[in-house]
Amino acid sequence: MMNDPRPEPIHLPDALDSFDQLWSPRVALRMNNYDVRVAKVAGEHVWHAHDDTDEFFLVLDGELRIDLRDGDGEREVVLRTGSAFVVPRGQQHRPTAPDGASILMFEPSGTLSTGDHDGPLPDHIDATTGHALG
Ligand code: NI
Repeated sequence: MMNDPRPEPIHLPDALDSFDQLWSPRVALRMNNYDVRVAKVAGEHVWHAHDDTDEFFLVLDGELRIDLRDGDGEREVVLRTGSAFVVPRGQQHRPTAPDGASILMFEPSGTLSTGDHDGPLPDHIDATTGHALG
């Protein structure tokens, strides 16, 4: 996949079907220095921010909610299938998906999924810069 001299198209639903782990993004494609990552999610992620980059989300299936924190307090955006959103650089956010969702993220390669989160992580959260697809 990576740096493949003869790149092939990828079918995102098949890519999502190839793994089960939640909150554990897979790198589906790379473009310049960016990853196109796909993930299955359910329940709550952890509060974190990415100090060096915005983070793009596209909901492929289901509903993703993103809690956002700024100087005025907290708000929540609700993204149904087909909705996209960009979390601004430096903004504290917490993705949640009460009923589960499949999502696509676009962000610089090397971006840690848990950002600046400090302290213990729940067992269901994978701190990763994205795994290769099996
Ligand atoms: Ni994030």
